[in-house]
Amino acid sequence: MPAIVLVGAQWGDEGKGKATDLIGGHLDYVVKFNGGNNAGHTVVIGDETYALHLLPSGILTPGVTPVVGNGVVIDLGVLFDELEALDARGVDVSSLVISANAHLIPSYNRVLDKVTERFLGKRKIGTTGRGIGPTYADKMARVGLRVQDLFDEKILRQKVEGALDQKNQLLVKVYNRRAVSVDEVVDELMSYADRLRPMVTDTGLLLAKALDAGETVLLEAGQATLLDVDHGTYPFVTSSNATSGGACTGSAIPPTRIDSVITVMKAYTTRVGEGPFPTELHGEEGDRLRKAGGEFGTTTGRPRRCGWLDTVIGRYAVRVNGTTDFVLTKLDVLTGYDPVPVCVGYEIDGVRHDEMPLTQTEFHHAVPIFEYLEGWHEDITEARTLSDLPAAARRYVETVEQMCGAPISAVGVGPGRDQIVAVRDLIR
Ligand code: IMP
Repeated sequence: MPAIVLVGAQWGDEGKGKATDLIGGHLDYVVKFNGGNNAGHTVVIGDETYALHLLPSGILTPGVTPVVGNGVVIDLGVLFDELEALDARGVDVSSLVISANAHLIPSYNRVLDKVTERFLGKRKIGTTGRGIGPTYADKMARVGLRVQDLFDEKILRQKVEGALDQKNQLLVKVYNRRAVSVDEVVDELMSYADRLRPMVTDTGLLLAKALDAGETVLLEAGQATLLDVDHGTYPFVTSSNATSGGACTGSAIPPTRIDSVITVMKAYTTRVGEGPFPTELHGEEGDRLRKAGGEFGTTTGRPRRCGWLDTVIGRYAVRVNGTTDFVLTKLDVLTGYDPVPVCVGYEIDGVRHDEMPLTQTEFHHAVPIFEYLEGWHEDITEARTLSDLPAAARRYVETVEQMCGAPISAVGVGPGRDQIVAVRDLIR
């Protein structure tokens, strides 16, 4: 049975939670492999809406083991808040397992995330301010704290001391903030150790055994292709690998065991934070799409920047991730737009580009070239098969599929769990 990777095609918030939910019944494990509580999944089940920031959305599916992989950064306060909130609503959270190698977000990195952004001024990234970037920087600089360090207080203390030698210089001398004491960091982290201990395991080994036993594993990305630190619109990206390659390094499942890559793409485009966005709509046009799509951040509540679908990005996502299936979400939001513009290429300094340009400067200068597809006015929220869709909506789906170069296997037509047009099985 397969290992399936689930990634976002654009700048995040494509509706990955819904895609997970759609195949949840077939899954044995759902693994979060990158990011931290900067992610935001909204899952609607019946009348209940669940907004998850850190936990894999599989936690809502009975019978699924949710796994926090080694590639994740964990804010322990947020972890336990989310677990308690779900528990209070009757969700069984007892099966959660966490990698001993995942990194922890200490309080000083939350402070540093916010003050660095303030100091960047006009050059700010627009981060979620949750300490994600500084924690991944610490991981690479080899001064990070890991889950397993909580089980050896002496080692934890040594590591915190080492980190604070540098961090306090920064906090006090550069950012004019108060110094943080070793005790306060150690005490805060150690206060979670006993509760965390039973959840911690060698998740790589657990998943390898699960695949050997024929179980189905979903590797679910936080953020998305263009927020990937290597393949995204750097520096306006998150600090981890959100593309399918990250699924391997962030979980210890090797590339040879991955069977399919589901890529979730919104029928239009949104982005939170700063950075280039060629098809962005400004003013009233942007407001209309934002309102129609309810485009406000799950994690931060920030209004999302909105624009038309960009198939240059769609093609890029297929190439970088090895997409086997697209799930196209929120098609219902485009109802009433006629014609519907779709970006097919860019004009950059007088030259046409059909692929993502080589440099950041060129991408900043990209002017979208649109094709105008016929729109539809009928309510499509009750459609469950392609033939239920009006002809123009069907053509939109087929045209996007051809332009991006991978099959669209499901189409979202509303926020509810069952509001989906199934084209072909996602699990084969
Ligand atoms: P960070 O991940 O908090 O460091 O933020 C870096 C960039 O990624 C910012 O532009 C954020 O708005 C963006 N970002 C991080 N997580 C998400 C997400 O789940 N959806 C959309 N954008 C995100």
